[in-house]
This record gives sequence, structure tokens and C-alpha cells, in this order.
Amino acid sequence: MFATLASFARLLRAVLTLARHDAILPAEYQSVYPAPARMAGRVMRLLARRRQAGNPGERLARALESLGPSYVKFGQILATRGDVIGERFARGLARLQDKMPPFGDDKARTVLEAEFGAPPDTLFSELGPAVAAASIAQVHKATTSDGRTVAVKILRPDIERRIARDIRTLSLGAALAERFAPASRRLEPRKFVETVSRSLTVETDLRLEAAAASELAEAAAVAEGYRIPAVDWTRSTKRVLTTEWIDAIALSDTERLSQCDLDRPELATRLTRAFLATALDRGVFHADMHAGNLFADEAGRIWAVDFGIMGRIGRAERRFLALILHGFLTRDYMSAARAHFAAGYVPQHHSVEDFASALRAVGEPIFGKRADEVPMSRVLLQLFEITDLFDMRLRPELVMLQKTMVQCEGVARQLDPKHDMWGAAAPVVERWMKRELGPEGRIRDLGEDVVRLHDAVRQLPRAIEDWAEIGAKLKAGELKLSGGPRIRPWALRLAWLAGAGATGAMLAWLAL
Ligand SMILES: Nc1ncnc2c1ncn2[C@@H]1O[C@H](COP(=O)(O)OP(=O)(O)O)[C@@H](O)[C@H]1O
Ligand SMILES: [Mg+2]
Repeated sequence: MFATLASFARLLRAVLTLARHDAILPAEYQSVYPAPARMAGRVMRLLARRRQAGNPGERLARALESLGPSYVKFGQILATRGDVIGERFARGLARLQDKMPPFGDDKARTVLEAEFGAPPDTLFSELGPAVAAASIAQVHKATTSDGRTVAVKILRPDIERRIARDIRTLSLGAALAERFAPASRRLEPRKFVETVSRSLTVETDLRLEAAAASELAEAAAVAEGYRIPAVDWTRSTKRVLTTEWIDAIALSDTERLSQCDLDRPELATRLTRAFLATALDRGVFHADMHAGNLFADEAGRIWAVDFGIMGRIGRAERRFLALILHGFLTRDYMSAARAHFAAGYVPQHHSVEDFASALRAVGEPIFGKRADEVPMSRVLLQLFEITDLFDMRLRPELVMLQKTMVQCEGVARQLDPKHDMWGAAAPVVERWMKRELGPEGRIRDLGEDVVRLHDAVRQLPRAIEDWAEIGAKLKAGELKLSGGPRIRPWALRLAWLAGAGATGAMLAWLAL
């Protein structure tokens, strides 16, 4: 009871903050509201002290920043839903800043002591002041007791409790919105808050971030000049993540970057290849590739930090991506289309020629223009529209890859305005084609088929037993199929025969 009241009070505070920024029913959209909403909007604007600067998305961003970490995450995820909130609004919202004043070094030491159950100097001979602070954690430069320089990321004290409280408030808001604001239903508010909650839970367990870093470090081996700092597992816990310190310049630090003698086009190429190669070859990618998380060192290598969001992409989706990119790169739309039909991605009632033609409609314009004028991410977006037309269901992981590609392309362009993502991607795609579709890949595919078949055969005796049991019960009248058609003995016999036939065929196939 008390908790619910407290949630109501907090929700009210959040609503007032949003209203003060004119971010609930923004004046700009006045003309499309029904009359009561227009009225409510006017009343809320009375609360806004003065006219707020910026477009509605930017105003919402500022309001959420002032409300704290959970709201910032809420905004970050909302910004990826341009399909519901409108692309312009989403772009404004995407400017969310996640900077906060650091909590003191003493508090940092207290967290370290609580986590390791020993004074911090037993593990770190020196702990410098925070070099960066955000709403969930801050990072210190430190020296370990064995003399290595490391980065120590420490969760804000009490952050878990605060997030739990905020999630209760957001859930209440979502339930109310779903009930009383039909317009919000397209976003599925309750499910949306669940997504926010899950993402915050992951981000407040730094062991998961450590695991992601180590997984990505392994994957990064497939790309030249792409590095991930090594995790110091003995100095990492749920609330502390210690990684090797990287002496490099953040790609967001444009001033320092321009003063250095770095081969910027080469850096841009490395970045593109790093992203695509880890995704295609290993099925994982860094999914938060903004310039503040990427660094370039003196040797021209790219380093990535911050592994709160990992992208994953399954084998079938990797294959889809590689074949499509290869089709575009070689302008061979027919082969790309055939490969899709053969793999069963496009339902058979569609025509392969029509599909190839749709691919051509997306691909050909690339060749009339300079490659740097046709972002690969935009081409993929158009492709998604086509796949919709052909009843292909794209997995959310491909959508996430496309959104990360937008980021990656942006950073690469900032390094080298003439960066040609297509040219940079070509060798990665080529290599994939050779490996996966060449003899080596075919043998592996065959191997996987045999394993799948073997699993299926192993499950068969169990299935047959189940059938026998069901059959016996049906006969004895212990089991009735309510509402369904009555199963006649001859139908059962037929099912038995079919089962036995299939088993025989599979065993024969395996024996061959
Ligand atoms: N291993 C590292 N070496 C050097 N600096 C680091 C390292 N890890 C993090 N940092 C610095 O700390 C900042 C914040 O770290 P990050 O993991 O991105 O946290 P957040 O999730 O708060 O963005 C980075 O932008 C970078 O400047
Ligand atoms: Mg970061």
C-alpha cells in the first residue's frame, strides 16, 4: 500500500518534470490532438516556466536526464522506436546525455572494500580520481598491486535500489497509460518497461559486462587492428569491472584526433571491417558503437570499451546478410534471390524473379552514385521493407545490426568523410562466401545436418513410446479427445505405420 502510494507520488513528480519541459503533449503537435488532449496540453504548458528550447525530442531528452538513470535508459530505448514515435522525434531524443558528476573517491573505496572483502590497497596500489562518470557507473584509472595500469568501472552506490524503485514507478505509469491512453498502445507500454527493466538489470551486473568483453575479445581476433581490453577477473565482481587500461584517443575527441598523425581512412576501414567481421564470422558485435566508446591508439588500432549492449546474430541471419551484401556488391541479384529461396527464407508461393527484381530496385541505385553517398545502413533499411513485401520475417537481431551499422557508419564518416563502407566490406563478405559456401563450409553444413538427424532419430523411440501409451489409453477409454475428432483404430494403425516407416528410412539413410 505504502509502496504504491510512493510510486504514485514519484510518477506525479515525473509527470510534472515532463510537463515543465513541455514534453508530454508538445505544442508542436497541437493540431493533431483531439480536443481534450489539446486542452490538457495547454494546461500543462502553464507549468512550463518559460518557452523551452529545442524540438520535442530534445526537450523530452532533457526532462529524462533530470529524472535519473532508469529514465535515461527508457529514453535511449525509446529513441530506437522511430517506427512508433516518428523518426524526427527519435533523432531529437537520441541526443540524450548520460553524464553525471562523479561520486567521491571515498565512496568508490567503500564499494571496493565491500565487494572484495578487503581494503582496496590489497588489490590496487593506486586508485586515481574518476576519469568518466555516468548515471550507472564511473571509471577510475588505477594501478594494480602487481603494477599494471587498469580501468576500474564501479557501480554507483545504491544504484540497484534506485533502479528497482524507478521501475516500479515506470510500471505504474505504463499500466495507467495502457488503460487510459489508447494512443500509447502501439508501443505496448508494459512490455516496453519490461525491456527497459531487463536492460538495466544486465547493465547493473558488471560480471555480464566482463563476460561480454571477453567474448568480444575472442571474436575481435577475426579483424585486423581491432582490440578489446582484457578483463582482470580477479579484480572484477558484480559491482566492479577491471580491464586493461588503454592508452588511446577517444574517437569522440575530434580535437586531439586531428592533432595526431593517424591514417584516418585506414582507421575508418578498420572500424567497418571490425564491425562486419565479428558479426558475420562470429555472430557477435559491439552494439553501442558511438564515438565515445571507440578509441584509436598510436599504432592505428581501434579499441572498443563498454560492453553493456551486445549484438548477437544467428547462423541463418548471418548467411542472409552475407548473401545479400554479396548480391549487391557483385550486382548478381538473381543468385542472391535463388539462395534465399533455396534456404527457405522466402515462402515458395512468391516468384524468384520478382524477388530478384525487388533486390535490383534497392541495389542498382548504389552504382549510379559514389559509394559514400549511399549508406549501407540505408540500403539495408530499404531491404527490410522489401522483405516485408515477400513475407520474410526478419529477426529483431538483424534490425539491431542495422541500427548499429548506422552508428558505425557515422563514426567512420566522421573519421573519413569519403569512407566507402561497401569497398571496406567487400573482402569480409568475400572471405565469408569462400569459407561458408566453398567445400569447407559444405562439409560443415553436412556435418550439422547429420547431427540434427541423429538427434531426431534418438528422440524417435520416446515418441513411439508416447504414441503407444496414448494408443493404449485411448483404447481403454482413459483418454478422451474433447471436442476433437474421434480417433478410429485404423487411423492409429496408420500413424504407427507412418512412424515405423519414417524410422526405417532414417536408419537406412544413416547407415548409408
Ligand atoms: N579500459 C579502459 N581504458 C581507458 N579508458 C577507459 C577504459 N574503460 C573505460 N574507459 C573510459 O571511461 C569511459 C566510460 O566507460 P564506459 O565503459 O563507456 O562506461 P559507460 O557505460 O558509463 O559509458 C570511457 O568512455 C573511457 O573514456
Ligand atoms: Mg560508454
